[in-house]
Amino acid sequence: MSNYVKIFDTTLRDGEQSPGASMTSTEKLELARNLARLGVDIIEAGFPAASPDDLEAVRLIANEVGNPPSGEEQTQVPVICGLARATRGDIDKAWEAVKGAQKPRIHTFLATSEIHMKQKLRMDREQVVEQAAEMVAYARSLCDNVEFSPEDAGRSDPNFLYIVLGEAIKAGATTLNIPDTVGYTMPEEFGALIAGIIANTSGMSDEITISVHTHDDLGLATANALAGIHAGARQAEVTINGIGERAGNTSLEEVVMALKTRFPVYALETGIDTTQISRLSKLVSKFTGIPVQPNKAIVGANAFTHEAGIHQDGMLKSNQTYEIMRPEDVGVNQTQLVLGKHSGRHALRVRLAEMGHVLDEVELDQAFTRFKELTDRKKVATYADLEALIADEFYQPLSVYTLDGLQVTCGTMGMPTATVRLKGPDGEVHTQASIGTGPVDATYKAINTIVNKGNTLIEFNIHAITEGIDALGEVTVRIQGNNGHQSMDAQKELSYSRIYSGHGADTDIIVASAKAYINALNKLFILQTEMETVRSV
Ligand code: KIV
Ligand code: ZN
Repeated sequence: MSNYVKIFDTTLRDGEQSPGASMTSTEKLELARNLARLGVDIIEAGFPAASPDDLEAVRLIANEVGNPPSGEEQTQVPVICGLARATRGDIDKAWEAVKGAQKPRIHTFLATSEIHMKQKLRMDREQVVEQAAEMVAYARSLCDNVEFSPEDAGRSDPNFLYIVLGEAIKAGATTLNIPDTVGYTMPEEFGALIAGIIANTSGMSDEITISVHTHDDLGLATANALAGIHAGARQAEVTINGIGERAGNTSLEEVVMALKTRFPVYALETGIDTTQISRLSKLVSKFTGIPVQPNKAIVGANAFTHEAGIHQDGMLKSNQTYEIMRPEDVGVNQTQLVLGKHSGRHALRVRLAEMGHVLDEVELDQAFTRFKELTDRKKVATYADLEALIADEFYQPLSVYTLDGLQVTCGTMGMPTATVRLKGPDGEVHTQASIGTGPVDATYKAINTIVNKGNTLIEFNIHAITEGIDALGEVTVRIQGNNGHQSMDAQKELSYSRIYSGHGADTDIIVASAKAYINALNKLFILQTEMETVRSV
């Protein structure tokens, strides 16, 4: 059996199903590029049948990331996968979306637990076996890389799974993914389920990859995935930061670092460049607006911080007393590496390239201007500052509105008042003054008056990126679109009330707050326009 575990990243599909995690197609493409650079083997780019804009986003990723122009630096071309229910319509759409990739895959699924078959599908066992086999064969007639998942396998009868999976192999599936859809199983059970499938499914061979897909409802997703891998699975379906439906999916960084740190236990490898993990975690958090909890394994802000005196004393004597991984192995130590006020363009270019951001001349000019503004105010720019600056400058969706000026008066001596100047879609400048309960409220009211797009602010988070009172402040917000239309079909109404996130960074926290809000509003505009455009063609 191979000693290589394929990493199947589903941040863009299962991850994007987290409430509020909607990303624009520009962000999805940027994330897919970074996932390829991280070294994932398969990118599940979306669920093309979910909506025309999902299909377009998957197609874009398949054509660009799954088919890089020859000569372009890309470590390895990943497989690009599209999800499909086991129906011809879904499979056609998935194929339509992924066929431009050099290595396309169709991933189709059908539920096999009694509760799902009876309550959701209203099908009996024979019908499920028949439909699974028929649809795998249909997918295989289009694409020679087909993955089949018996949804809710964790609560399915193992003997029935052996039959369905055997038929899926016969029909041409090359990967059998075993989902614990509702995060119900215990590690021993899940390990035994995988071992049972390998031992009892007819047609199993080294050509067939068994995959694990575990959810975190009981906090056991990583433990279950590792138990499945220990039992013989050689693909893990994961998301960055563990984002996903409900309590989320198995997190990529946990599985990869467990295999690496405890290599003697598993003797298994992955193709992940672990030094990029921290950067990807931050990127996903920015794009989705979902913050990472401070105590999150591997990527949380406290994961490598030592507070207790005894721990600090131990760390000073030897890092190994309280650290089982080296922070630099996940790309965390760079906070020490600072560039200063006097650093030049070349130093900035080299540092950004080390961080994985290869900029062209125009982009470097933009970044250098921002860098100079920052170091004029803050003297030094750490790794974290540079990441925030790059995200703020380049990872914003194409702007509809940009902040052109902001002045705020606040404090105890008068009404908080904000005067905001925004550049609009056609370059026209709008100025508006508003009063509010505080400076952020006043600023957001002024922005709303100019933008005039119904929305509700549902979350506002602010934190300092580095230590010290001169630190960059980073703001993330989440807003919910209000449709404001009287008659709308259900799908359109759903898409209008989606949650959009935005982020902004600046040494002035009111400016960072304004940028974050404008970023979220831009996303709302862009995603609604993308939906409208794709639907009208
Ligand atoms: O959790 C699940 O069952 C899934 C399938 C579509 C693989 O995400
Ligand atoms: Zn899932």
